[in-house]
Amino acid sequence: MMNTDWISVCVASKRSIAEDIQSFDLTAVGGGALPAYTAGAHIDIEVRPGLVRQYSLCQAPGEAEGYRIAVLRDPASRGGSTAMHDVLREGDVVRISVPRNHFELEPTAARSVLLAGGIGVTPLLCMAEQLQRDGKDFVLHYCARSRARAAFHDDVANGELAAHVRFHFDEGPDASRLDLAGALGAPSAETHVYVCGPSGFIDWVFSGAEAMGWPRAQLHREYFSAEAPTASVDDEAFDVRIASTGATYAIPCGRSVTDVLAEHGIDIPVSCQQGVCGTCITRVLEGEPDHRDLVLMGDEMDEFAPCCSRSRTPVLVLDL
Ligand code: FES
Repeated sequence: MMNTDWISVCVASKRSIAEDIQSFDLTAVGGGALPAYTAGAHIDIEVRPGLVRQYSLCQAPGEAEGYRIAVLRDPASRGGSTAMHDVLREGDVVRISVPRNHFELEPTAARSVLLAGGIGVTPLLCMAEQLQRDGKDFVLHYCARSRARAAFHDDVANGELAAHVRFHFDEGPDASRLDLAGALGAPSAETHVYVCGPSGFIDWVFSGAEAMGWPRAQLHREYFSAEAPTASVDDEAFDVRIASTGATYAIPCGRSVTDVLAEHGIDIPVSCQQGVCGTCITRVLEGEPDHRDLVLMGDEMDEFAPCCSRSRTPVLVLDL
């Protein structure tokens, strides 16, 4: 079952903000406010019927009446970013989901280190604006291939966030690579680290931070597309039991829990169906999930993403 909580919005403005990157301002059809959100949230956008993509909201909550997203044209696009760039026009009406957030700021953190890889800057900009507004201590390390490919570069470099932002470019006259150990510093219980970008960048930050002794609980990440394989030739069949009814269903290799349950009239809301958006996250009461998603941290035993994840035990009991 796809997400049916759709909201119709108008593309109020579409701008080219960097090489291969366009931003879109979305406003409620007929005016008025769109649903509130928190820093780090994303929305689904129905680019065209049957084609749904997730994009992070770039502006701090309350900054504008509508939502702003930024989209990188992906050469390996399966249609989403290409359609956003080439087909969607100012004035068009599209459907979006209510904002969801699986990348929240930790409210107790005294200091935040934000690490952005390329277009992964979008949720982190929103967080940076929120932290600035809250008077919190933070730094944003913004890594991009070049200045020309850094979304919102001029706004950031010349705006209120400037004192908190360090740019790191791979190419060009101002090339300067990120020194991860220097950026993170020694582990501190009051500091939380947030990273968004390509999977290689996230994995590099996580493994570097863990090697330095940073606890996993203080490291937060969000991938911006499905980049991890969700199926494997070694997959095994397992059963899911529905806690409320006791009914048990066999999940064969090559089929997802959501698909099998939907066939039996048990609809878990889904959106990306690739383990990216978190829409389908479901509580697990018994059994050990085999996480294949990119939302959870990978060691949770009490929840899992049934659109893609599997089971390490013969039976998973779901809180449904
Ligand atoms: Fe997006 Fe499962 S539907 S994570």
